[in-house]
Amino acid sequence: MEKIRAAITGINAWAPEYRLTNQELSKLVDTSDEWIMQRVGIKERRIQKGEGLGSSDMGEQAVKGLLAKTNTSPDEVDLLICSTVTPDMMFPATANIISDKCGILNAFSFDLNAACSGFLFALQTAAAYVETGRYKKVVVVGADKMSSITDYTDRTTCPLFGDAAGAVLLEPTTEEFGIMDYIFRTDGSGRKFLHMKAGGSVRPSSHETVDAKEHYIYQEGQSVFKFAVSNMADVAAEIMERNNLKSEDIAWLVPHQANLRIIDATGRRMGLDPGKVMINIQNYGNTTTATIPLCMWEYENRLKKGDIIILAAFGGGFTWGSIYLKWAYDPQ
Ligand code: UT7
Repeated sequence: MEKIRAAITGINAWAPEYRLTNQELSKLVDTSDEWIMQRVGIKERRIQKGEGLGSSDMGEQAVKGLLAKTNTSPDEVDLLICSTVTPDMMFPATANIISDKCGILNAFSFDLNAACSGFLFALQTAAAYVETGRYKKVVVVGADKMSSITDYTDRTTCPLFGDAAGAVLLEPTTEEFGIMDYIFRTDGSGRKFLHMKAGGSVRPSSHETVDAKEHYIYQEGQSVFKFAVSNMADVAAEIMERNNLKSEDIAWLVPHQANLRIIDATGRRMGLDPGKVMINIQNYGNTTTATIPLCMWEYENRLKKGDIIILAAFGGGFTWGSIYLKWAYDPQ
Protein backbone atom coordinates (compact mmCIF):
# COMPACT_ATOMS: atom_id res chain seq x y z
CA MET A 1 0.00 0.00 0.00
CA GLU A 2 1.20 3.50 -0.86
CA LYS A 3 2.28 5.65 2.06
CA ILE A 4 -0.19 8.42 2.87
CA ARG A 5 1.33 11.74 3.91
CA ALA A 6 -0.42 14.82 5.28
CA ALA A 7 0.08 17.98 3.21
CA ILE A 8 -0.85 21.56 3.94
CA THR A 9 -3.22 22.49 1.10
CA GLY A 10 -4.25 25.95 2.33
CA ILE A 11 -3.31 28.57 4.89
CA ASN A 12 -4.94 31.65 6.33
CA ALA A 13 -4.43 33.99 9.27
CA TRP A 14 -6.20 36.83 10.98
CA ALA A 15 -5.03 39.58 13.33
CA PRO A 16 -7.06 42.36 14.94
CA GLU A 17 -6.74 45.87 13.51
CA TYR A 18 -5.56 47.74 16.60
CA ARG A 19 -1.78 48.31 16.56
CA LEU A 20 -0.09 48.81 19.93
CA THR A 21 3.15 50.61 19.03
CA ASN A 22 6.36 50.87 21.06
CA GLN A 23 5.63 54.57 21.37
CA GLU A 24 2.27 53.90 23.01
CA LEU A 25 3.81 51.24 25.28
CA SER A 26 6.45 53.70 26.44
CA LYS A 27 3.59 55.80 27.87
CA LEU A 28 2.37 52.80 29.91
CA VAL A 29 5.71 51.55 31.27
CA ASP A 30 9.33 52.70 31.52
CA THR A 31 10.56 51.42 28.14
CA SER A 32 11.61 52.70 24.73
CA ASP A 33 11.42 51.83 21.05
CA GLU A 34 15.22 51.53 21.08
CA TRP A 35 15.30 48.96 23.92
CA ILE A 36 12.51 46.84 22.46
CA MET A 37 13.98 46.90 18.93
CA GLN A 38 17.50 46.07 20.12
CA ARG A 39 16.60 43.33 22.60
CA VAL A 40 13.55 41.76 20.96
CA GLY A 41 12.93 43.22 17.48
CA ILE A 42 9.26 44.19 17.85
CA LYS A 43 7.84 47.47 16.48
CA GLU A 44 4.14 46.87 17.12
CA ARG A 45 1.68 44.16 18.03
CA ARG A 46 -2.05 43.68 17.31
CA ILE A 47 -4.56 43.83 20.17
CA GLN A 48 -8.10 42.45 20.14
CA LYS A 49 -10.29 45.23 21.51
CA GLY A 50 -13.98 44.94 22.36
CA GLU A 51 -16.09 43.32 25.06
CA GLY A 52 -16.89 39.65 24.86
CA LEU A 53 -14.31 38.73 22.24
CA GLY A 54 -11.78 35.95 22.75
CA SER A 55 -9.42 33.58 20.98
CA SER A 56 -12.32 31.74 19.32
CA ASP A 57 -13.38 34.92 17.48
CA MET A 58 -9.93 35.26 15.92
CA GLY A 59 -9.86 31.52 15.23
CA GLU A 60 -13.29 31.81 13.59
CA GLN A 61 -12.01 34.50 11.21
CA ALA A 62 -8.90 32.48 10.33
CA VAL A 63 -10.86 29.25 9.74
CA LYS A 64 -13.74 30.85 7.79
CA GLY A 65 -11.21 32.52 5.48
CA LEU A 66 -9.34 29.22 5.10
CA LEU A 67 -12.50 27.32 4.13
CA ALA A 68 -13.48 30.01 1.61
CA LYS A 69 -10.00 30.14 0.12
CA THR A 70 -9.76 26.36 -0.31
CA ASN A 71 -13.39 25.94 -1.50
CA THR A 72 -14.06 23.67 1.45
CA SER A 73 -17.56 23.32 2.82
CA PRO A 74 -17.72 23.21 6.65
CA ASP A 75 -19.50 19.84 6.29
CA GLU A 76 -16.42 18.31 4.68
CA VAL A 77 -14.14 18.93 7.67
CA ASP A 78 -13.50 15.72 9.64
CA LEU A 79 -11.53 17.11 12.57
CA LEU A 80 -10.47 20.50 13.95
CA ILE A 81 -7.63 20.90 16.45
CA CYS A 82 -7.04 24.23 18.18
CA SER A 83 -3.79 25.04 19.95
CA THR A 84 -4.09 27.83 22.49
CA VAL A 85 -2.91 28.99 25.90
CA THR A 86 -5.71 31.53 26.11
CA PRO A 87 -8.87 29.46 25.66
CA ASP A 88 -12.17 31.33 25.76
CA MET A 89 -12.92 29.47 28.99
CA MET A 90 -11.38 26.66 31.07
CA PHE A 91 -13.95 24.47 29.30
CA PRO A 92 -15.44 23.72 26.85
CA ALA A 93 -12.58 23.57 24.38
CA THR A 94 -12.06 26.63 22.16
CA ALA A 95 -11.94 24.14 19.26
CA ASN A 96 -15.59 23.25 19.99
CA ILE A 97 -16.54 26.95 19.96
CA ILE A 98 -14.65 27.68 16.72
CA SER A 99 -16.31 24.66 15.06
CA ASP A 100 -19.73 25.91 16.14
CA LYS A 101 -19.06 29.45 14.89
CA CYS A 102 -17.82 28.12 11.54
CA GLY A 103 -20.68 25.63 11.06
CA ILE A 104 -18.31 22.64 11.25
CA LEU A 105 -20.87 20.10 12.40
CA ASN A 106 -19.74 16.72 10.98
CA ALA A 107 -16.50 16.71 12.89
CA PHE A 108 -15.03 16.33 16.33
CA SER A 109 -12.66 18.90 17.75
CA PHE A 110 -10.38 19.40 20.71
CA ASP A 111 -7.77 21.77 22.15
CA LEU A 112 -4.10 21.04 22.57
CA ASN A 113 -1.86 23.09 24.84
CA ALA A 114 1.88 23.07 24.30
CA ALA A 115 2.35 26.85 24.73
CA CYS A 116 4.49 28.36 21.95
CA SER A 117 5.15 24.92 20.43
CA GLY A 118 1.40 24.27 20.33
CA PHE A 119 0.96 24.82 16.61
CA LEU A 120 3.71 22.31 15.77
CA PHE A 121 2.39 19.69 18.19
CA ALA A 122 -1.16 20.20 16.84
CA LEU A 123 0.02 20.03 13.22
CA GLN A 124 1.79 16.72 13.80
CA THR A 125 -1.18 15.32 15.76
CA ALA A 126 -3.47 16.26 12.86
CA ALA A 127 -1.00 14.72 10.40
CA ALA A 128 -1.10 11.43 12.30
CA TYR A 129 -4.91 11.32 11.84
CA VAL A 130 -4.58 12.07 8.11
CA GLU A 131 -1.88 9.41 7.66
CA THR A 132 -4.31 6.71 8.88
CA GLY A 133 -6.27 7.26 5.66
CA ARG A 134 -9.54 7.80 7.54
CA TYR A 135 -9.40 11.62 7.80
CA LYS A 136 -9.52 13.60 4.54
CA LYS A 137 -9.79 17.23 5.66
CA VAL A 138 -8.36 18.33 8.98
CA VAL A 139 -8.12 21.94 10.18
CA VAL A 140 -5.39 23.03 12.58
CA VAL A 141 -5.81 26.48 14.13
CA GLY A 142 -3.53 28.36 16.52
CA ALA A 143 -5.34 31.21 18.29
CA ASP A 144 -4.11 33.33 21.17
CA LYS A 145 -5.39 36.50 22.77
CA MET A 146 -2.17 37.12 24.69
CA SER A 147 -3.38 40.60 25.70
CA SER A 148 -5.88 38.86 28.02
CA ILE A 149 -3.04 37.50 30.20
CA THR A 150 -0.50 40.34 29.80
CA ASP A 151 0.17 42.78 32.63
CA TYR A 152 0.48 46.21 31.02
CA THR A 153 2.28 47.53 34.12
CA ASP A 154 5.12 44.97 33.78
CA ARG A 155 7.74 46.22 31.34
CA THR A 156 9.55 42.88 31.25
CA THR A 157 6.62 41.10 29.57
CA CYS A 158 4.16 43.62 28.09
CA PRO A 159 6.26 44.57 25.03
CA LEU A 160 6.56 40.93 23.96
CA PHE A 161 3.09 39.63 23.18
CA GLY A 162 0.28 40.20 20.67
CA ASP A 163 -3.01 38.67 19.52
CA ALA A 164 -3.67 36.65 16.33
CA ALA A 165 -4.86 33.36 14.85
CA GLY A 166 -3.62 31.23 11.97
CA ALA A 167 -5.06 28.09 10.39
CA VAL A 168 -4.08 25.42 7.88
CA LEU A 169 -5.96 22.69 6.03
CA LEU A 170 -4.31 19.26 5.96
CA GLU A 171 -5.21 16.69 3.32
CA PRO A 172 -3.81 13.27 2.37
CA THR A 173 -1.41 12.79 -0.52
CA THR A 174 0.51 9.80 -1.83
CA GLU A 175 3.07 12.07 -3.49
CA GLU A 176 6.37 13.08 -1.88
CA PHE A 177 4.92 16.25 -0.34
CA GLY A 178 3.69 17.25 3.08
CA ILE A 179 5.01 16.48 6.52
CA MET A 180 8.11 14.33 6.22
CA ASP A 181 9.54 14.21 9.75
CA TYR A 182 9.35 15.78 13.20
CA ILE A 183 11.28 15.90 16.48
CA PHE A 184 9.48 17.08 19.62
CA ARG A 185 10.68 17.42 23.22
CA THR A 186 9.27 18.55 26.56
CA ASP A 187 10.86 19.29 29.93
CA GLY A 188 8.28 20.15 32.58
CA SER A 189 10.95 21.21 35.06
CA GLY A 190 11.21 24.41 33.00
CA ARG A 191 7.72 25.42 34.15
CA LYS A 192 9.15 27.52 36.97
CA PHE A 193 10.53 30.02 34.46
CA LEU A 194 7.36 30.58 32.44
CA HIS A 195 3.81 30.06 33.66
CA MET A 196 0.61 31.59 34.99
CA LYS A 197 0.47 31.23 38.75
CA ALA A 198 -3.27 31.08 39.42
CA GLY A 199 -6.56 30.12 37.84
CA GLY A 200 -5.82 26.40 37.57
CA SER A 201 -6.64 23.54 39.94
CA VAL A 202 -3.57 24.11 42.13
CA ARG A 203 -4.42 27.72 42.86
CA PRO A 204 -8.00 28.52 41.86
CA SER A 205 -8.98 32.14 41.24
CA SER A 206 -9.79 34.20 44.33
CA HIS A 207 -9.71 37.84 45.41
CA GLU A 208 -6.21 37.15 46.71
CA THR A 209 -4.92 35.79 43.38
CA VAL A 210 -6.40 38.72 41.49
CA ASP A 211 -4.91 41.24 43.93
CA ALA A 212 -1.52 39.54 43.62
CA LYS A 213 -1.72 39.76 39.79
CA GLU A 214 -1.35 36.02 39.46
CA HIS A 215 -3.49 35.73 36.31
CA TYR A 216 -0.82 37.21 34.10
CA ILE A 217 2.20 35.69 32.33
CA TYR A 218 5.11 35.15 34.70
CA GLN A 219 8.43 34.86 32.87
CA GLU A 220 12.09 34.82 33.92
CA GLY A 221 13.23 36.11 30.57
CA GLN A 222 16.96 35.46 30.72
CA SER A 223 16.55 31.81 31.75
CA VAL A 224 13.93 31.18 29.06
CA PHE A 225 16.17 32.91 26.53
CA LYS A 226 19.11 30.58 27.26
CA PHE A 227 17.03 27.42 26.91
CA ALA A 228 15.23 28.77 23.82
CA VAL A 229 18.42 29.64 21.93
CA SER A 230 20.12 26.31 22.52
CA ASN A 231 17.12 23.98 22.22
CA MET A 232 15.47 25.56 19.18
CA ALA A 233 18.76 25.68 17.29
CA ASP A 234 19.70 22.11 18.36
CA VAL A 235 16.40 20.58 17.30
CA ALA A 236 16.44 22.35 13.92
CA ALA A 237 20.02 21.15 13.30
CA GLU A 238 19.08 17.62 14.44
CA ILE A 239 16.18 17.31 11.98
CA MET A 240 18.46 18.47 9.15
CA GLU A 241 21.10 15.91 10.05
CA ARG A 242 18.60 13.06 10.45
CA ASN A 243 17.22 13.76 6.96
CA ASN A 244 20.59 14.44 5.31
CA LEU A 245 19.54 18.01 4.54
CA LYS A 246 22.24 20.60 3.77
CA SER A 247 21.60 24.29 4.32
CA GLU A 248 21.41 24.81 0.55
CA ASP A 249 18.57 22.25 0.31
CA ILE A 250 16.36 24.32 2.59
CA ALA A 251 14.09 26.95 1.03
CA TRP A 252 12.72 28.40 4.27
CA LEU A 253 13.02 28.29 8.04
CA VAL A 254 9.78 29.25 9.80
CA PRO A 255 10.79 29.97 13.39
CA HIS A 256 8.53 30.79 16.33
CA GLN A 257 8.61 34.57 16.65
CA ALA A 258 9.55 35.31 20.29
CA ASN A 259 12.77 37.26 19.92
CA LEU A 260 14.75 38.25 16.81
CA ARG A 261 17.97 37.22 18.54
CA ILE A 262 16.64 33.64 19.06
CA ILE A 263 15.50 33.54 15.41
CA ASP A 264 18.91 34.73 14.16
CA ALA A 265 20.75 32.19 16.34
CA THR A 266 18.64 29.34 14.92
CA GLY A 267 19.19 30.46 11.31
CA ARG A 268 22.96 30.76 11.91
CA ARG A 269 23.17 27.31 13.51
CA MET A 270 21.46 25.84 10.43
CA GLY A 271 23.94 27.68 8.20
CA LEU A 272 21.11 29.49 6.40
CA ASP A 273 21.31 32.61 4.32
CA PRO A 274 19.31 35.21 6.36
CA GLY A 275 17.00 35.70 3.35
CA LYS A 276 15.64 32.17 3.90
CA VAL A 277 14.36 32.91 7.39
CA MET A 278 10.73 34.03 7.66
CA ILE A 279 10.40 36.99 10.00
CA ASN A 280 7.38 39.12 10.88
CA ILE A 281 7.96 39.61 14.62
CA GLN A 282 8.35 43.36 14.03
CA ASN A 283 4.65 43.65 13.08
CA TYR A 284 2.96 41.20 15.45
CA GLY A 285 5.24 40.35 18.41
CA ASN A 286 4.88 36.93 20.00
CA THR A 287 1.39 35.61 19.26
CA THR A 288 2.26 32.25 20.88
CA THR A 289 0.44 29.51 18.90
CA ALA A 290 -0.29 31.78 15.93
CA THR A 291 3.28 32.87 15.05
CA ILE A 292 4.12 30.03 12.65
CA PRO A 293 0.90 29.98 10.54
CA LEU A 294 0.82 33.80 10.55
CA CYS A 295 4.34 33.88 9.16
CA MET A 296 3.75 31.19 6.51
CA TRP A 297 0.54 32.95 5.45
CA GLU A 298 2.39 36.24 4.91
CA TYR A 299 5.03 34.45 2.82
CA GLU A 300 2.57 32.13 1.02
CA ASN A 301 3.01 33.77 -2.40
CA ARG A 302 6.75 33.12 -2.26
CA LEU A 303 6.39 29.38 -1.56
CA LYS A 304 6.74 26.91 -4.41
CA LYS A 305 5.68 23.29 -4.74
CA GLY A 306 8.49 21.09 -3.46
CA ASP A 307 10.13 23.76 -1.28
CA ILE A 308 11.81 22.19 1.74
CA ILE A 309 10.66 24.00 4.86
CA ILE A 310 11.76 23.60 8.47
CA LEU A 311 9.43 24.79 11.24
CA ALA A 312 10.93 25.31 14.71
CA ALA A 313 9.55 26.47 18.03
CA PHE A 314 10.36 26.75 21.72
CA GLY A 315 8.03 27.74 24.53
CA GLY A 316 6.50 27.31 27.96
CA GLY A 317 6.54 23.83 29.45
CA PHE A 318 9.27 23.78 28.37
CA THR A 319 8.21 22.45 24.97
CA TRP A 320 10.20 22.56 21.76
CA GLY A 321 10.43 20.91 18.40
CA SER A 322 10.91 20.99 14.68
CA ILE A 323 8.97 19.77 11.64
CA TYR A 324 10.40 19.07 8.18
CA LEU A 325 7.88 19.45 5.36
CA LYS A 326 7.76 19.73 1.58
CA TRP A 327 5.40 22.45 0.42
CA ALA A 328 2.56 21.00 -1.67
CA TYR A 329 1.40 23.79 -3.99
CA ASP A 330 2.52 26.73 -6.12
CA PRO A 331 1.33 30.32 -5.58
CA GLN A 332 -2.23 30.78 -6.88
O1 UT7 B 1 7.72 32.38 23.41
C1 UT7 B 1 7.87 31.87 24.70
C2 UT7 B 1 9.28 31.78 25.06
N1 UT7 B 1 9.76 33.06 25.46
C3 UT7 B 1 10.91 33.52 24.97
O2 UT7 B 1 11.52 32.91 24.12
C4 UT7 B 1 11.45 34.80 25.57
C5 UT7 B 1 12.91 34.62 25.92
N2 UT7 B 1 13.49 35.79 26.59
C6 UT7 B 1 13.74 36.95 25.93
O3 UT7 B 1 13.41 37.08 24.77
C7 UT7 B 1 14.52 38.03 26.66
O4 UT7 B 1 15.06 37.49 27.84
C8 UT7 B 1 13.67 39.29 27.02
C9 UT7 B 1 13.30 40.01 25.75
C10 UT7 B 1 12.42 38.86 27.76
C11 UT7 B 1 14.51 40.24 27.87
O5 UT7 B 1 15.73 40.56 27.21
P1 UT7 B 1 17.12 40.42 27.99
O6 UT7 B 1 18.17 40.86 27.05
O7 UT7 B 1 17.21 39.02 28.52
O8 UT7 B 1 16.97 41.49 29.12
P2 UT7 B 1 17.12 41.29 30.71
O9 UT7 B 1 15.91 40.62 31.25
O10 UT7 B 1 18.46 40.72 31.01
O11 UT7 B 1 17.11 42.80 31.18
C12 UT7 B 1 18.19 43.69 30.86
C13 UT7 B 1 17.89 45.06 31.45
C14 UT7 B 1 17.44 45.01 32.90
O12 UT7 B 1 17.95 46.17 33.53
P3 UT7 B 1 19.28 46.10 34.44
O13 UT7 B 1 18.97 45.11 35.52
O14 UT7 B 1 20.36 45.67 33.51
O15 UT7 B 1 19.41 47.52 34.93
C15 UT7 B 1 15.95 45.11 32.82
O16 UT7 B 1 15.38 45.67 33.98
O17 UT7 B 1 16.79 45.64 30.72
C16 UT7 B 1 15.77 46.03 31.65
N3 UT7 B 1 14.48 45.89 30.99
C17 UT7 B 1 13.95 46.86 30.22
N4 UT7 B 1 14.37 48.10 29.90
C18 UT7 B 1 13.60 48.83 29.10
C19 UT7 B 1 13.65 44.81 30.99
N5 UT7 B 1 12.57 45.07 30.23
C20 UT7 B 1 12.73 46.34 29.76
C21 UT7 B 1 11.96 47.16 28.90
N6 UT7 B 1 12.43 48.39 28.61
N7 UT7 B 1 10.78 46.74 28.38
